[in-house]
Amino acid sequence: MKGIILAGGAGSRLYPLTMVASKQLQPVYDKPMVYYPFTTLLEGGIREICLISTPQDLPRFRQLLGDGSRFGATIDYREQASPAGIAQAFRIADTFIGTDAVSLILGDNIFWGGDTFQRAFAEFTTGATVFGYHVLDPERYGVVEFDAAGKAVSIEEKPKQPRSNYAVPGLYIYDNEIVQIARDLKPSARGELEITDVNLEYLRRGTLRVFRLGRGFAWLDAGTSSSLHEASAYVQTVEKRQGIKVGCPEEAAFRRGFLTLGQLEQVITTIPNCEYRAYLEGVVAEARVN
Ligand code: DAU
Repeated sequence: MKGIILAGGAGSRLYPLTMVASKQLQPVYDKPMVYYPFTTLLEGGIREICLISTPQDLPRFRQLLGDGSRFGATIDYREQASPAGIAQAFRIADTFIGTDAVSLILGDNIFWGGDTFQRAFAEFTTGATVFGYHVLDPERYGVVEFDAAGKAVSIEEKPKQPRSNYAVPGLYIYDNEIVQIARDLKPSARGELEITDVNLEYLRRGTLRVFRLGRGFAWLDAGTSSSLHEASAYVQTVEKRQGIKVGCPEEAAFRRGFLTLGQLEQVITTIPNCEYRAYLEGVVAEARVN
C-alpha cells in the first residue's frame, strides 16, 4: 500500500505563524507537525510516500524529510497549485498510486494510541476503510451515522444538524478504484473536491467500512492557535510521563524493520547533540540489550 500526506492549504487560521512556515511545519511540542502523520504511516507499514503541498512550502518539506531514506522510506513530492479540495490529492498523485491501494493522511491530524490503524492497514483488501471518532463538536467535520447494527448509513460534510457525534478523522484507506472515483468527482457547492463525496461513493457501492476508534485513542486537531497549543501540551504530557516519543519517524522505521539497527546508528550520527538524539540513542541501547 502507498501513502499520501496532504500538507497544503492556506493555514490562514494560524496567521501570522503561517507567514513563514506552513501549518504542517509548525512545532507540536518537540517536532514539526508533519512528523506525526508521517510516523502514523510508517507505523502502519507504509514506506512509499507522496507528500503534497503548495509550491511555496514544498522546498521546506524537502529540506526537512529529504528523499525519505533517513526513515527507510521513499518520498515523492508533488505540488498542489491551489487548495481545490482534499480529494484532489488523488488526481495529483495518480501516477504515484499506479495500480496500488493507497492511504491518505492529512498533514495536520495527530493520532496516538492503540493499534487500530496497524490492523486496518494489514487487513485491508478492497473497498474503503475510514474511521469514526466520538467528538463534542461533530458539525466541524465529516459526520458518520450508524444504524442499530453498527453499520454506517450516512456521511455528511459539516452538517448543521449532525446525525451522530462520530467525526471522520483525516486518515482514509482506499483500493485502486479511488483513481477513477477522484477523476469523476465534481466540485461541491463550496468549489472543492470533497473527501466526503469519495466516501459517499464507496458507501453507495456498498464497499465502505467504518471502524470506530475506541476510548483511550487520541485524535488531536492542531488547526487553531489553541488546539496547536493543546496538542503540544498533550504530547509533552505523554512523553514526560512515559519516556517515549510520540511521532518519532526514525523510531517507527526501526521498529517496523525499515531501518536496521546499524542504519539507525548511522542516522543518529547525523543528528546534532540534543534531546532527540539522546532519545534515539536510548532506543538503540535498549535494542542492543534485548
Ligand atoms: O480533520 C478531519 C476533517 O478534515 C474531516 O472530518 C472532513 O470530512 C474533511 O473535509 C476535513 O475537514 P477540514 O475542515 O479540516 O478540512 P480543511 O479544508 O481544513 O483541510 C484539512 C487539511 O488538508 C488542512 O491541513 C489543509 C489540507 N488541505 C486542504 C484542502 C482543502 C490541502 O492540503 N489542500 C486542500 O485542497
